[in-house]
Amino acid sequence: MTAPWRTAWITGGSTGLGRELALRLAREGVRVAVSARSAEKLGELAESQPNLVAVPLDVTDRAAVAEAHRRIVGEFGSVDLAVLNAGVWHPMKATEYDADRAVQSMAVNYFGIVNAVDVLIPDMKSAGRGQIALVGSVAGYRGLPMAAAYAPSKAAVISLAEVLRLELASHGIVVSLVNPGFVETPMTSVNEFPMPFILKSDDAAARIYRGLARGKFEIAFPWQLVGLMKALRVMPNALFLRIAGRMAAH
Ligand SMILES: NC(=O)c1ccc[n+]([C@@H]2O[C@H](COP(=O)([O-])OP(=O)(O)OC[C@H]3O[C@@H](n4cnc5c(N)ncnc54)[C@H](OP(=O)(O)O)[C@@H]3O)[C@@H](O)[C@H]2O)c1
Repeated sequence: MTAPWRTAWITGGSTGLGRELALRLAREGVRVAVSARSAEKLGELAESQPNLVAVPLDVTDRAAVAEAHRRIVGEFGSVDLAVLNAGVWHPMKATEYDADRAVQSMAVNYFGIVNAVDVLIPDMKSAGRGQIALVGSVAGYRGLPMAAAYAPSKAAVISLAEVLRLELASHGIVVSLVNPGFVETPMTSVNEFPMPFILKSDDAAARIYRGLARGKFEIAFPWQLVGLMKALRVMPNALFLRIAGRMAAH
């Protein structure tokens, strides 16, 4: 498959899904700017593949995100595809609610995306083309146990992706939403609960790549978990609360 993009920018590219996708794109001939906080990991990654360029940043720092975008456009000419993937997962029970963790989750998972779309949209709009992928999660479909910090941040991502897809299509900008189920990455390595239908990160990255290349709106996988989570989403609240309440009791 020939990649439909010449250049890409991936946030959260130092490990996990972002790293796998960056490598996949680079192998397909795409020049990829890879961002995350750990400059060292990014440097090593960039050294391993000539199409990768390390652009360290913290996505919560709006000025740094804007500066990184300017630098990438300066070097690449344009960003054809942006994958806004940086994220944190803080398992948190409502009985151990911690505002700092909730605020940090929102700052990285949602406002990190906000900071990037803020600089991407004007450029893509004037070019009349471009693709932006927002990485959410199936955890954003419904509030579930342990996800008091994480789920609201991902629900916000899903909502933003819907609005952007609707309003940017007429400007030639394709907006995609990536909603993974469980994937083996450093993020999930801390989980002590069962993770049904968990995927390897290279498999997940290949699914994301294919969906993005087709310009799909929602790229959600694996279908088994997505089906279950979507069923919870459309279920009447009384039934949902009864089923999810049993999960919370464990
Ligand atoms: N793995 C799963 O099962 C799963 C399921 C659903 C959704 N997701 C989503 O997929 C995305 C990737 O997750 P992953 O599983 O690949 O996790 P991961 O391996 O922990 O990767 C997270 C990435 O985000 C970066 N990051 C974190 N905070 C950042 C910040 N403030 N500024 C810039 N970069 C930051 C990390 O790098 P630094 O620490 O170097 O900054 C790392 O590169 C996340 O949005 C996650 O919520 C994952």
